[in-house]
Amino acid sequence: MEQIKLDISNVDNFISQATIGDYKNQVADANKALHEGTGTGNDFVGWVGLPSSITDEYLAEVEETAKKMQENIDVLVVVGIGGSYLGAKAVIDSLSGSFDNFDKRENPRVIYAGINLSEDYMAELREFLKDKSYGICVISKSGTTTEPAIAFRILKNDIEEKFGKKDAKNRIVAITDAEKGALKIVADNEGYKTFVIPDNVGGRYSVLTPVGLIPIAIAGFDIRKLIEGAKLMEQNTSADQEFENNIAGVYAATRNALYKRNYKTEILVNYNPKLQYVGEWWKQLFGESEGKENKGIFPASANFTSDLHSLGQYIQEGERTLFETIISVKGTKHKLTIPENKEDHDKLNYLAGKNIEFVNEKAMLGTLQAHIDGGVPNIIIEIPELSEFYVGQLIYFFEKACGIGGYLLEVNPFDQPGVEAYKKNMFKLLGKE
Ligand code: PA5
Repeated sequence: MEQIKLDISNVDNFISQATIGDYKNQVADANKALHEGTGTGNDFVGWVGLPSSITDEYLAEVEETAKKMQENIDVLVVVGIGGSYLGAKAVIDSLSGSFDNFDKRENPRVIYAGINLSEDYMAELREFLKDKSYGICVISKSGTTTEPAIAFRILKNDIEEKFGKKDAKNRIVAITDAEKGALKIVADNEGYKTFVIPDNVGGRYSVLTPVGLIPIAIAGFDIRKLIEGAKLMEQNTSADQEFENNIAGVYAATRNALYKRNYKTEILVNYNPKLQYVGEWWKQLFGESEGKENKGIFPASANFTSDLHSLGQYIQEGERTLFETIISVKGTKHKLTIPENKEDHDKLNYLAGKNIEFVNEKAMLGTLQAHIDGGVPNIIIEIPELSEFYVGQLIYFFEKACGIGGYLLEVNPFDQPGVEAYKKNMFKLLGKE
């Protein structure tokens, strides 16, 4: 089975392969600490062995719940924020057609609520749902996060009013803690179908738990293949894997070596708009894991070629503290060639008969060289195609690299103390006791 590839040859002008190789022992120690649960934040390393521990029975239960929802609804509203929605959206968007949500589709289309505090967004969402047969997947580990709690309070009233309390109950799935939190109490009282977020998996590492699996399965994607891909990556980045063959370890070492040379911002770049939310998910994963104690690479993302027409100037000639990691997808789902035109006013006939992806690839190679020449180191992650199997690999690859990277940086990659500061101020301003 093919594995996604990591190419670090384009950092050669900036750091030597020997410098990266010097991380060999540190990476091995960090990886071992993750697997043995002996490092900082070790009560949150449940994700490390997760793919290989998921049973057939468990997946069957997820699939059965998804099937019942699919039969009942046209639209799924995922209510959750941060780690409780970004992973699901990243996977669903990667695998969906670009215009699926605008048209009738076989499986429910997925939309999101509780991801902001915008009154307009919420009002417009309610208006949109008025004539739809919809269901809700409400996700909150703590069960007390303000944004999803407000959204769910409103949507729960609406769904009960529209379908009646009994039918509404069958249209709601709750994903939360096994014991604590307000959502757990509501779910138990109302008798919702409930899935548990394991105690030892933090929000941003939870996409392969029901947090991601339930919405992904309801959207109609193959969660078994997703887990299969993640499992392969779990095996190939295991504690006894050699450094050179452990792509998560090599990626973590390369980023860390660049950071030490003052490359303080990493831009995750894609050339396929389906990957935009992989960038959003990745920013949370790395930003919340590394950004503490006045340390950490700032995670940014860019969608090329669109952002070459906006951020391109800065990347080429701005402050030289950037490096890029490109996710390059080799295969396309569709084939489309550029047509011949008799007049050729636009002077594009030299491309007639060529696939659009051929042009995209040349844009990528041209940009890569320009950015390297401009002083921006580049890392490439190569994926054969956007399918469940490869997206599953990609998720686990980034999670493992992030865990190792956090330990290389000597921070706890599994807490997020800084997230509380704004909440404290907000609650004070709101007059919460
Ligand atoms: O990674 C995290 O811990 C956060 O992004 C949380 O996922 C987010 O705040 C949502 O929390 P909860 O699932 O408790 O509602």
